[in-house]
Amino acid sequence: MELLKNKVLQEGIVLGEQVLKVDSFLNHQVDPVLMMEIGKEFAARFAGEGITKVLTIESSGIAPAVMTALQLGVPLIFARKRKSLTLRDDLLTEKVYSFTKQEESEVSVSKKFLSPGDRVLLIDDFLANGEAAFGLARIAEKAGATVAGIGIVIEKAFQPGGRKLLDAGYRVESLAPIASLADGRVTFADKPEPQTNPV
Ligand code: G4P
Repeated sequence: MELLKNKVLQEGIVLGEQVLKVDSFLNHQVDPVLMMEIGKEFAARFAGEGITKVLTIESSGIAPAVMTALQLGVPLIFARKRKSLTLRDDLLTEKVYSFTKQEESEVSVSKKFLSPGDRVLLIDDFLANGEAAFGLARIAEKAGATVAGIGIVIEKAFQPGGRKLLDAGYRVESLAPIASLADGRVTFADKPEPQTNPV
């Protein structure tokens, strides 16, 4: 998705070899026009899957997920990381460990929003080790729903999450797969490097 990749190249800040900061359009300030295009792209890629619900995790997954849900004409559910005052009983809860943040969180979804007939599209902003996506998938499957696909805005393809999800049998679509953050720059996975002429 060229619009997204150009935004990553223009505004992304590489922090070491493992982390990309994109808080000007995805993780803090949000670019709604870009989010709408992302929603259209996910909706087109998963058009034939009979999606009935979009499921993400708070907070940065919500913006791309709500646009995807809008395009597909289905509800968005976001898993909550903290139990709210009104979200108490009948919860589907999973532990999710973040290698990036080195912390474990419990994520919860109310049972009333997922049913055995649902075909669920998981959406998240980043894919690194796949922990969040597997946690969401376990929640959907506990409800008896089917995970029909996983849509990722930025995949760090040099980390193992994408491979693990594919090996587990999930369909994964990444809009901006990154092969490397070495040397302080972003190299996308699906774009050949420009050839340099031998001197
Ligand atoms: P995983 O789910 O694929 O295993 O990823 P991991 O646990 O490593 O990621 C945990 C959190 O860190 C997630 O945000 C994820 O979006 C974010 N993250 C991982 N790698 C990067 C990166 O290179 N850049 C940025 N900007 N974020 C990254 P979260 O804890 O759910 O926070 P939130 O922003 O959604 O509230």
